[in-house]
Amino acid sequence: MTAPSQPLLEIAGLKVQFGQTKAVRGIDLSVMPGEAVAVLGESGSGKSVTGKAIMGLINRPGRVEGTVAFEGRNLVGRSERDLAAIRGPGIAMVFQDSLDALNPVYSVGNQIMEILTVRLGWDRGRAREEAIRLMEQVGIKEAETRLGDYPHQFSGGMRQRICIAMAIALKPRLLIADEPTTALDVTVQAGILRLINALRQESGMALLFVTHDLAVARQVATSLVVMYAGRVVERGKIDEIFARPSHPYTRALLASNPGAVAHWSQLQPIAGNPPDKATKVTGCAFAPRCPRAEPRCRAEAPELRDVMPGRQSRCHFAEEVAHV
Ligand SMILES: Nc1ncnc2c1ncn2[C@@H]1O[C@H](COP(=O)(O)OP(=O)(O)OP(=O)(O)O)[C@@H](O)[C@H]1O
Ligand code: SF4
Ligand SMILES: [Mg+2]
Repeated sequence: MTAPSQPLLEIAGLKVQFGQTKAVRGIDLSVMPGEAVAVLGESGSGKSVTGKAIMGLINRPGRVEGTVAFEGRNLVGRSERDLAAIRGPGIAMVFQDSLDALNPVYSVGNQIMEILTVRLGWDRGRAREEAIRLMEQVGIKEAETRLGDYPHQFSGGMRQRICIAMAIALKPRLLIADEPTTALDVTVQAGILRLINALRQESGMALLFVTHDLAVARQVATSLVVMYAGRVVERGKIDEIFARPSHPYTRALLASNPGAVAHWSQLQPIAGNPPDKATKVTGCAFAPRCPRAEPRCRAEAPELRDVMPGRQSRCHFAEEVAHV
């Protein structure tokens, strides 16, 4: 166990490369015990790869560099046996697509019970009781009757609830949720977000919530990490970033997000595309799309640096951007 003042998870210089594809170019982020952190970035920015790298799920030919310290111990390069012991009670993950995460040929009850019998050595009777309790806890009605149903007999939202039940079965200290609501309609999405908030309040588990939606991030998290082209470009308290973004990319995201602006007429899509993942970036990766770019931006890569108390930004002109 970590002391409350020490990060539960501390990632430094995380890089993930698949052949020539630089999926993650150097991520630094930390999650304190019980803290809820949202990771935000557009499609392809390396969010899922970061989540999988934390879980030790990047397979060859993927290459991982840097450190992922969980409760003070680096997980990068650890044996599969060590990682398997941490997955579940230490860190659990809810994946982007519940259909991929569940096994179609086993009933959902069996899949939840198996975690408890295999990992905790419980007998089937005890595991069955707990599986019912977990299904009820995530809001599945008539859980006892539905225990024998197969994944395809549940709606997308209900399947995502079952994935959450499986993820929390071993009471993880950190839950990584990778866009768990992206495929769902808005009402179902709101229910899942309320469920995640309620589970956190009951158990005190920390949350790393991956999303491309600023409005969703704000509903579950107190801290925000903004990713662009495989790197962190801004991080800090979410409300403070909303009130005063200090990176032009965050500012552009705020202006392009329907949930974050006061009126549809204020929406501004971000023009252009992120840099090619096989190319080495010289200078600032956002420069080709940045309305604030100057010659210095193309020549000199900005570092992620402190720009005000509790805030970091990877922009040469962060202070000016924050005071526009
Ligand atoms: N196994 C793999 N082999 C090769 N490239 C991969 C692999 N997994 C991911 N990538 C690449 O890494 C980059 C980052 O992918 P990632 O899935 O992390 O994006 P994301 O931010 O989660 O996007 P989305 O919002 O669409 O889920 C992409 O260019 C993707 O094609
Ligand atoms: S460093 Fe320059 S190009 Fe990059 S975000 Fe800041 S102003 Fe824009
Ligand atoms: Mg993803």
